[in-house]
Amino acid sequence: MLEIEIKNIKFKNPVFLASGIMGSTGKSLIRIAKNGAGAVTTKSIGYYPNKGHKNPTIVELGDSILNAIGLSNPGIEEYEEELKKAKPILEKMNTKIIGSIYGKDEEEFIKVAKVMEKYVDIIELNISCPHAKGYGATIGQNPELTYNVCRAVKKSVSVPVFAKLTPNVTDIIEIAESAYNAKIDGFVAINTVRGMKIDIKAKKPILYNKFGGLSGRAIKPIGVKIVYDLYENFNLPIIGVGGIFNGEDAIEYFLAGASAVQVGTAVMKDYNIFKKICEEIKKYLIEEDLKLKEIIGMAH
Ligand SMILES: Cc1cc2nc3c(=O)[nH]c(=O)nc-3n(C[C@H](O)[C@H](O)[C@H](O)COP(=O)(O)O)c2cc1C
Repeated sequence: MLEIEIKNIKFKNPVFLASGIMGSTGKSLIRIAKNGAGAVTTKSIGYYPNKGHKNPTIVELGDSILNAIGLSNPGIEEYEEELKKAKPILEKMNTKIIGSIYGKDEEEFIKVAKVMEKYVDIIELNISCPHAKGYGATIGQNPELTYNVCRAVKKSVSVPVFAKLTPNVTDIIEIAESAYNAKIDGFVAINTVRGMKIDIKAKKPILYNKFGGLSGRAIKPIGVKIVYDLYENFNLPIIGVGGIFNGEDAIEYFLAGASAVQVGTAVMKDYNIFKKICEEIKKYLIEEDLKLKEIIGMAH
């Protein structure tokens, strides 16, 4: 009932793990797969190991989180070993893998993509991290750089390539159009929203990086609007992400135009959330007597 096909890939359900949460090792990906995710997305991996920003890197704000982890990751060479071990196990569970990658320029993106594509079903281009200096944010906020990176990776690999967009722009359609013109296969929207939390006693920002990316409950309306706009303007599959905690949240994204959703912050609170969200989507489809495919974009 929840099966969905995107770019000829059959997913057992449309509720996926988002990048950056529980995706740093093969074991953590498998753990999430066991909890029922239709696909798992890796932490964003670069060519070189990256320590990320200094602590504090996370501030909890109720059901939202402000993070400036700064893309800490072991680099593709070491991460390949994780993928080698995890891939056969994930395959047995029929859980698809999305490989998130980043780089400072086209060459770095291509080098990582070429390794990543051996293990994954989709490559997700993180051109949208708001707090990694000189990397993601600059690319995804600039139409020309977006085009260059998307085109370079698209020409270099044979698996579908999705561009993960940042909401931190004036005109999302301008950026999306550059990615579309570079012939990418789909969009992932959204990455975190730039924000700051100040400690009123210390009278300073709490994060070492001063500002970070806001995720969780607070950003859902921003994500839903962007997915709605993307669906209105492009005929490409969209994976919706931002503030999904339950079936209703996911359904809003489907109605806006997403073919699948990813869950990040909510997983940090409850690893088992995938089964719960799937059950709630099923219940809605039965009550409304509709198929998943039918509700995609139905709010338009
Ligand atoms: C702790 C943390 C780390 C993240 N790391 C990444 C990352 O490495 N790559 C990426 O594309 N997005 C990263 N994100 C963004 C999420 O994938 C997602 O786009 C965003 O958090 C919105 O979804 P959510 O509200 O369900 O968390 C991270 C988010 C959090 C909270």
